[in-house]
Amino acid sequence: MKEKVLNLLKEGEYISGEKLSEILGVSRTAVWKAINTLRKEGYEIDSVTKRGYKLMKKPNVINAADIAEGLDLKVIGTEIVTMKTVDSTNEEIKRRVHGNAESGLVVIACDQTAGKGRLGRSWFSSDGGIYFSVLLRPELPPNDISGITLAAGLGVCVAIRKLTGLNAMIKWPNDVIIGNKKVCGILTEMTAQTDMVDFVVVGIGINVLNDSFPEEISNKVTSLKMETEEQINLSQLMREIISVLDRIFTSYLLGISQEDMKLYKSMCATIGREVSLIRGGEKMSGKAIDITADGELVVRLKDGKRITVNSGEVTVQGIY
Ligand code: BTN
Repeated sequence: MKEKVLNLLKEGEYISGEKLSEILGVSRTAVWKAINTLRKEGYEIDSVTKRGYKLMKKPNVINAADIAEGLDLKVIGTEIVTMKTVDSTNEEIKRRVHGNAESGLVVIACDQTAGKGRLGRSWFSSDGGIYFSVLLRPELPPNDISGITLAAGLGVCVAIRKLTGLNAMIKWPNDVIIGNKKVCGILTEMTAQTDMVDFVVVGIGINVLNDSFPEEISNKVTSLKMETEEQINLSQLMREIISVLDRIFTSYLLGISQEDMKLYKSMCATIGREVSLIRGGEKMSGKAIDITADGELVVRLKDGKRITVNSGEVTVQGIY
């Protein structure tokens, strides 16, 4: 009921309770209750005797209808589910896979009670951030999906730049950073047979309106609000991200385009920096000089030898 009332209020003019109840075929009390629920959710609704109700301001919450409206999405966003809270959007997608969810499903949450980071770490997921996961069922062998994560980082970086004007960069393979602090992390999980992917879940966490972080991470992370001092609109940001990711994933599933690879390299903060890593128990260091077509990092070691690295556990000098 509240969605129907909201849709009528979105038309922008004052509309009387009587008219609302007439159009919707419900009692005046039902309309009044829906208005109160919307107010509790943060919608500012003016009411004037004899004129009725008018929507003055929408709350800054993620609204599935606002995100996809008018977008010509091809591979993601076939279904968009928003949730107030969930343990982890990656886990929610996996539960829905068992209920036969289709490729392209996006699950977005306002907060997570058990947000998961890479390498078994947890992901700080308080209200104010965007936490979402995308289900993909690409017809690809398992070895070919590493680029999906790269493509996701690129998509978020491009969308953040476009919406905020911030100089967001990518820390290889897919953290998005501003300055030397992390603003977005991506956790890709996959289930596969030996020769074919069953499904891939790309989970993305972005610090947007967060004002503070726990002490142990506060010097390594930032939020878009901390960087811009602006109240970024969550639905608008999500809309931008979904639209960029759809474009990049569409081309990725056909093989990442050379143009996107060029774009990725131009936004990659790791290239040109001193890095260190551990290989076969031995600590090595050198300079990151390039990314291969498969998304591996090319490092020129101190002795001049070049190696390629495919895991994300590389320490980059100057970045958290
Ligand atoms: C990282 O460690 O950098 C990856 C963080 C990934 C966090 C996102 S938030 C949405 C999705 N659900 C999760 O539980 N994790 C990912």
